[in-house]
Amino acid sequence: MSPTKTHGKHGDFAIEAKGLVKRFKSGKAFIEVLKGVDFDARHGDLTMVMGPSGSGKSTLIAALSGLLRPEEGRVDTLDIDNLWKLSSGRIDRFRLDNCGFIFQGFNLFPALTALQQVEVVLKFQGMPKGDAKRQATETLKEVGLGARLNQRPSALSGGEKQRVAIARCLAKNPQILFADEPTSALDGENGQVVIRLLRRAATEHGAAVICVTHDPRLEEWADRVIKIEDGVIIDDQRRTPNPDATLASH
Ligand SMILES: Nc1ncnc2c1ncn2[C@@H]1O[C@H](COP(=O)(O)OP(=O)(O)OP(=O)(O)O)[C@@H](O)[C@H]1O
Ligand SMILES: [Mg+2]
Repeated sequence: MSPTKTHGKHGDFAIEAKGLVKRFKSGKAFIEVLKGVDFDARHGDLTMVMGPSGSGKSTLIAALSGLLRPEEGRVDTLDIDNLWKLSSGRIDRFRLDNCGFIFQGFNLFPALTALQQVEVVLKFQGMPKGDAKRQATETLKEVGLGARLNQRPSALSGGEKQRVAIARCLAKNPQILFADEPTSALDGENGQVVIRLLRRAATEHGAAVICVTHDPRLEEWADRVIKIEDGVIIDDQRRTPNPDATLASH
């Protein structure tokens, strides 16, 4: 992976959002899922977002990453003043060029090998074939899958699948990495491998890693823990991460 890119015009802030309001229609009424949320995330930080089910965590990620338009508020990110002012094509381009996503369900293509899953994203970004293959191989080795390059998802364990998803995300060296419950389908050992990789993406590559989780044990690795309840941020604490923490022994 290449070293950290230079930061955008918002300096240490990879994302700065103000006053995000998101409403969904529920029968005749609207429910407000984000109630004027201010949120920021810095390059190099692993920022954890925690809160009960239905509190608006996934909706917040979607509003920050240009996937779901909020009714109110703005999102400044990298070199962009208010993402939501851009055309949908440019929002997609921003996401493709700068963001990585990791979900609970891995979202791998069933027909592709581990190597192809990573390669295809790099080629889609415009990387020449040979370079894409080299970069994909290197990144899969980095997540410990050097011996599984030619396996399809059906032949990989849950932990291995999530590592492929992480490699796919890290291969393009994203400035912002969104992870939504990345460890919840994994056992302690595999969960630990995943959270350590996210920690490294922040520390070694300077990515702003925004990780939604239910698991309070993951706090050990975080630089910052933000708590959300019922569409409102109720707590925001900085802390010193412990990169050597263990999940399995808890
Ligand atoms: N497309 C939608 N239409 C209507 N309501 C929605 C929609 N998406 C989410 N909601 C509602 O918004 C609220 C917040 O949803 P969200 O998915 O952001 O919660 P969450 O904090 O990610 O929960 P979980 O921990 O269970 O994933 C929930 O009450 C949900 O039912
Ligand atoms: Mg969610």
